[in-house]
Amino acid sequence: MKIDGKDYRTIWFENNIVKIIDQTKLPHQFIIKDLKTVKDAINAIKVMEVRGAPLIGATAAYGLVLSILENNDQSFLKKSAEDLIKSRPTAINLKWAIDRMLKKLKGVNSDKILDIAINEAKEICDEDIKFCESIGLNGLKVIEDIYNKKKDTVNILTHCNAGWLATINWGTATSPIYHAHKNGIPVHVWADETRPRNQGANLTSFELNEEGIKNTIIADNTGGILMQRGQVDMCIVGTDRTLSNGDVCNKVGTYLKALAAHDNKIPFYVALSSSTIDWDIKDFKDIPIEERNSEELSHVEGLDENNKIKKVLIYPNKSKAMNLAFDITPAKYITGLITEKGICDASKEGLAKLFK
Ligand code: MRU
Repeated sequence: MKIDGKDYRTIWFENNIVKIIDQTKLPHQFIIKDLKTVKDAINAIKVMEVRGAPLIGATAAYGLVLSILENNDQSFLKKSAEDLIKSRPTAINLKWAIDRMLKKLKGVNSDKILDIAINEAKEICDEDIKFCESIGLNGLKVIEDIYNKKKDTVNILTHCNAGWLATINWGTATSPIYHAHKNGIPVHVWADETRPRNQGANLTSFELNEEGIKNTIIADNTGGILMQRGQVDMCIVGTDRTLSNGDVCNKVGTYLKALAAHDNKIPFYVALSSSTIDWDIKDFKDIPIEERNSEELSHVEGLDENNKIKKVLIYPNKSKAMNLAFDITPAKYITGLITEKGICDASKEGLAKLFK
């Protein structure tokens, strides 16, 4: 998708360097950053220069490429894989991408391993783009149906950023929106600000602006009253881990939006590619929920009067804060899962039908 009218992917590989868009600086500064070592890749994931489940996975895959470039030794590769997996615990894509890379690299001669790793990391990215595009085409039908009944702008609420910046291109939750816009359906997005890191305000609104899609940022608690007033036609969110029973783990606050949508009989969809399905964990209580630094809550960042990015404390000095990054939306509150293979019920049977 576009930034300043120019097409970008969120990650690419050039002259043995991994290039990323530094998302900690958006929307105020557009900086392309070089990752040269596996430590750089781990750090980029930890501090969220890259974030969003599919992009974290792709960065981990390229992290292994950087690891091989640094030291073409099996024990170094193993340690790099372990360190990458630990960098952010909740999104399953990290482990999924590492497992896929290690499977591909198993038993490969040291003179061939680099090329094979580069190809597989690129394949992970290309496949993600293809899948996200299909999610968009499948989700388009839902937006079309609402538009055909309403004959007026379709208002869509989303939480966090499950946009192209969270993937390689297109996004998951935003892909149906981009496709609707390209097909001439009038859409308007309510972008939850998404405290504490403001991915909705800083990233979702930014990327929709760049594509010319109408959007309005709302405080995280506003969705409920908008739904009661009939100002939301549907919700679409992303996911960091989808269980085989259809329960969805996504950015903290998603659950409350699903409850409000359920109470107001508003369709609540989750968009995902199959790389986000965890077929192993059966009970959502076993999903590791990332707890991040409380400074993300107690401090906010913005532009000062000299157009410099500045961080300021907003809490009482002595107050404690707690920062859980994800929550669980039980399958019963989800209208459907929009995947690359089609739309299914958020249930064991629904997922099994699409992904045998
Ligand atoms: O903490 P983040 O910004 O990595 O959280 C991102 C989300 O929760 C997204 O909704 C999810 O990763 C899906 S991205 C297509």
